[in-house]
Amino acid sequence: MRLAARAGRIAPSPTLAMAATAKAMAAQGIDVADFSSGEPDFDTPEPVKAAAEAAIRAGFTKYTPSSGTDELRQAIIEKLQREHGLRYEKSQILVSCGAKHSLYNLAEALLEAGDEIIIPVPYWVSYSDQALLNDATPVFLQTREEDGYAIDAHALEQLITARTKAIIINSPGNPTGATYDRRTLERLAELALRRDLLLISDEIYEKILYDGATHTSIASLGPEVAARTVVINGVSKAYAMTGWRIGYAAGPKDLLTAMANIQSQSTSNPCSISQKAAVVAFRDGDVFTEKMVTEFDRRRRVMIERLNAMPGVHCRRPTGAFYAFPNVRALLGKQGSRGTIHTPTDLANYLLHEFKVAVIPGEPFGSTEHIRLSYATSMETIVRGMDRLDAAFKQLI
Ligand SMILES: Cc1ncc(COP(=O)(O)O)c(C=O)c1O
Repeated sequence: MRLAARAGRIAPSPTLAMAATAKAMAAQGIDVADFSSGEPDFDTPEPVKAAAEAAIRAGFTKYTPSSGTDELRQAIIEKLQREHGLRYEKSQILVSCGAKHSLYNLAEALLEAGDEIIIPVPYWVSYSDQALLNDATPVFLQTREEDGYAIDAHALEQLITARTKAIIINSPGNPTGATYDRRTLERLAELALRRDLLLISDEIYEKILYDGATHTSIASLGPEVAARTVVINGVSKAYAMTGWRIGYAAGPKDLLTAMANIQSQSTSNPCSISQKAAVVAFRDGDVFTEKMVTEFDRRRRVMIERLNAMPGVHCRRPTGAFYAFPNVRALLGKQGSRGTIHTPTDLANYLLHEFKVAVIPGEPFGSTEHIRLSYATSMETIVRGMDRLDAAFKQLI
């Protein structure tokens, strides 16, 4: 069968693939220290689960409006106003099956052959593949670890062409855990206004912050900035609800209407029960999030300190999200038990098969020098895994 060319342009999500391998090994009884997963290990808060149970009992199990229920869109409008001073109408909010789906609807509505979209590196894996799936060209903006992965507005401007449609920003970021300060956002907003670009602001980790870092939604920098920004967010990370699949987009009406039309002809509404649960998460979930973040912070400190004490490794202290992104350049070129370790992928395979530690290699995030470890896992796993990594790296050096 001759498949569409676009299907051949992308690979399955490597982060999901590594997490699946680690889970399969664990299911076979192998004791894996798993740092691959991009999801909180906390259980979904009780009141959220109760709302879902009530929804089932009340028979709220049918189609809802394709763009999401009025109740949930209203809860999202209130959240955006309360937390960022943003004002949206219902027609500017689209609820989808996870933030990944929100981004996909956006890519479909916005991009076509010849279009370019600027993505700062390192980046979350799906940004570039979703652009490719829609015949557009991802253009990568290199950032430097030494600068805390900050965006250099001058370097960014060099990449803008007549074909550039949008810039993606992701603060706090996956995989780096870096956060952008207000000054950086102001420079980006100024550039977007001057060069007529759409800003895509993925704020899925907005509530997971450390060391006094704060989050500013770029859309809140003024009405003219909001008019050219799509805010992407959801319940997966802040409320430990990855499996419930609720995300949303908020932005300019014409674009959101096009996205809503695409959704109405593809998936229809996101799960009715999850929508009821998400209303409670948005209205009452923040006490839960604060407790979770306090615990993530404890784990972050242990993991970063241990990583930085290992031979051949150095790791920036992330100020957001729940990932460590250590630089392992000094370990590349060393001899492992299965041959020379040339790349982060070779290193990740060596760690998984020889030391039973699952990490994600840097390549799918655009880095040939890093690996990503999630600390959204128990302290016990972190301590056990760090002992194994220490032993693994000592054998290489
Ligand atoms: C940066 C970023 N954006 C979006 C998503 C997608 O989240 P969701 O579970 O809502 O689809 C993820 C999930 O890993 C992510 O890391």
